[in-house]
Amino acid sequence: MSFAALWESLLPIGRDGPSGGYRRFSWTPEDAACRAWFTRSAAERDLRVLTDNNGNLWAWWDPPGRAPGPAGTGAVVTGSHLDSVPDGGAFDGPLGVVSAFAAVDLLRERGCLPVRPLGIAAFTEEEGARFGVACLGSRLLAGAIDPAAARALADAAGVTLAEAMAAAGHDPDRIGPDDDLLAAVGAYVELHVEQGRALADLGAAVAIGEQIWPHGRWRLDFTGRPDHAGTATLADRRDPMLPFAAAVLAARQAAASHGALATVGKVTAEPGAVNAVSARVSAWLDARGPDEQTLQAVVGQVLAAAREAAAGHGVELAAGPESVTPAVVFDPGLRERLASSLAGQGIEAPVLPTGAGHDAGVLAARVPAAMLFVRNPTGVSHSPAEHAEPADCAAGVRALATVLEDLACR
Ligand code: GLV
Ligand code: MN
Ligand code: MN
Repeated sequence: MSFAALWESLLPIGRDGPSGGYRRFSWTPEDAACRAWFTRSAAERDLRVLTDNNGNLWAWWDPPGRAPGPAGTGAVVTGSHLDSVPDGGAFDGPLGVVSAFAAVDLLRERGCLPVRPLGIAAFTEEEGARFGVACLGSRLLAGAIDPAAARALADAAGVTLAEAMAAAGHDPDRIGPDDDLLAAVGAYVELHVEQGRALADLGAAVAIGEQIWPHGRWRLDFTGRPDHAGTATLADRRDPMLPFAAAVLAARQAAASHGALATVGKVTAEPGAVNAVSARVSAWLDARGPDEQTLQAVVGQVLAAAREAAAGHGVELAAGPESVTPAVVFDPGLRERLASSLAGQGIEAPVLPTGAGHDAGVLAARVPAAMLFVRNPTGVSHSPAEHAEPADCAAGVRALATVLEDLACR
């Protein structure tokens, strides 16, 4: 199987020396290197590569004798993403793309030929690490974000998505929904490293995705008054750090009391002087819950606490969502189909829900979508410690090939 060679060839791209984690952000040189790797891997397999209007990559295995392109409809697509969170792990995203190429190799070893187009996709900016909106490439494709609003998204340095795409040689005026492309897709199956340790406890190497918790990101900008740390009296201060701190504690409390999750993993303080009261503190709240009502309750509680604390400290607060993804239940028919094709090969695959977001979740609004998860022994993810054992990666490739054979070759 070709998994190891593919994996090793992708591994050095965008790896940070000191942390050992990955910094693969969209439309950067590291992203370009990932794209070149994708194109090379596809070319080595005689797959036809396309970049869609939104910058997502597609590699097509056209059925023999069929007109090129997915236009015959009923195409079966697998894949994931190649970008990372800051200092992310090697597996989140790349495992699905590498496994997709390895599954194509395995299908060929088995002598399978697709009777409908089989595609491998790598979606752009899944993590939202550069421009703030999760699953940006699939969201644009599916029409789940306004293209003009997307073009105006800016990274931490103020570079807009439009500018970054143009600098990378991609026309930003073309971004937006692509109904023809989606109409050609009969099923999307994304393989992903498990982001949790349910499979380790269940003693199984792969699982089938059941649903994704509703989740989102909210940005909170606390604006106070910069002042001298050694002379401004406590009573006179308008310190944005204090309502920020109250919001972080409220997030933890709200999540715990609702059986949900809430995280503040990113914060900036300006101007960032040790010996000054900050002018502004910006924080990002990531919240996820078992249902939309709970999610709204958690976010509402955090924002109310932040507003109250801000008012108490004479601080202005501007808060709003950056991206919100509703609850997703994967297509039950497709899920059953995966379960029976895996069972037919003696592959045990429990069904698992997840709190992690995926392009499959965004695409599920437009096409039948499903997911396979590969065991992660510690469950740790979005971290350099993220891991899957080689034997489990091989089991994932076999499971994916089994599913693709059933969906695309019969
Ligand atoms: C994606 O990994 C997410 O759930 O944030
Ligand atoms: Mn991720
Ligand atoms: Mn991912």
